[in-house]
Amino acid sequence: MPQNGEFFVELMFSEVSSRKCIFAFLILVMINSEKDFIPSSYDFPKVSGTVKWEAPSNIALVKYWGKKEKQIPANPSVSFTLSESKTITEVIFSRKEHTNSFSFDFSFEGQPKPDFHPKIEQFFHRIELYLPFLKAYHFTIHSHNTFPHSSGIASSASAMAALSLCLMDIERKFTEISDELFYKKASFLARLGSGSACRSIQGTPIVWGEHSAIAQSSDLYGVSLDFEIHENFKNYQDTILLVDVGQKQVSSTVGHDLMHNHPFAQKRFEQAHQNLSDILEVFKSGDYQMFVNIVEGEALTLHAMMMTSNPYFILMKPNTLEIINRIWKFRELTKIPVCFTLDAGANVHVLYPDNYKNEVLSFIKNELAVFCHNGQFITDQTGAGAHKIH
Ligand code: DP6
Repeated sequence: MPQNGEFFVELMFSEVSSRKCIFAFLILVMINSEKDFIPSSYDFPKVSGTVKWEAPSNIALVKYWGKKEKQIPANPSVSFTLSESKTITEVIFSRKEHTNSFSFDFSFEGQPKPDFHPKIEQFFHRIELYLPFLKAYHFTIHSHNTFPHSSGIASSASAMAALSLCLMDIERKFTEISDELFYKKASFLARLGSGSACRSIQGTPIVWGEHSAIAQSSDLYGVSLDFEIHENFKNYQDTILLVDVGQKQVSSTVGHDLMHNHPFAQKRFEQAHQNLSDILEVFKSGDYQMFVNIVEGEALTLHAMMMTSNPYFILMKPNTLEIINRIWKFRELTKIPVCFTLDAGANVHVLYPDNYKNEVLSFIKNELAVFCHNGQFITDQTGAGAHKIH
């Protein structure tokens, strides 16, 4: 398979006519290794200011489970970017003496959160090479989520995406950055905070990880598809059923790690490549049946990997299974192409087309809510990606 760079060079000679296109392609050719995200040197002015961004959560259809060093995924994944479930982050920056340490305060939903400091410190260490100004400023970070904190919804994706965008916005004050590079680098940085966060920058669907059918795909950041998805998948609905709101017994990071020496790992990674090829066809054809088949298969395979790790673990709860069975029955009875997916937890994402919203929502209220913690669920749908807040 040609490397991204070679592919774009070929394209440049064969198809590209206008100067603008050549420039766009040159940028793509240039950004294909980690080094391309290290900026050329710039000054750190004695300025202060505030930047604010909101970034959405995302739900994977083909799952990322297993990684190599430096947050490189073991297989490619694809997700729908969500719309309502978001993190909103404000960063106030002020010049300090350029020392050898990071300086920041962090508050979540108005409360100082020192227990979040190690995660942010680790993130800053990982991205320092790419954002050389980090040790020259003090940062006051305020963050909050639009979804309940103790909902069991992974907020690291939206949180890392929002923080990365804020930091990129600060860098943009010191040096010129094209929009193309801005969003790619934000995704690149977010990935270093939490892998799936790189899929929370732009609108739906987003592919992360190299795949032979997607020329622009990369292990380093998420990319949009270069074709228009079928109408059937526009405004796709995701209702998140909150089955278990407690702390997960096994973190995603530990779960990813257990894919090393996992007896089924190799087959699983191959399967993810195939499922991604297949779902790309589904995005073109609008085939609901294939969509349901791939998405539910992926969710159950993810949990099968957990159950066959060593040590093994189960994150689904009895109510997760109850809900899955009821969705299957409802689908059989009504022929509505509603399906489920799961993250690394017990909550169930119910996915369905926009035009069946009324039927599916009443089914959820009447039959599924009873299996949720305090009857809670969150209605969401696919969205356009992160935004700057002025
Ligand atoms: C099951 O992105 O949370 O949600 O890179 O260690 O932060 P880290 O893991 P994380 O893993 C997400 C796993 C998943 C599947 C997915 O979103 O693709």
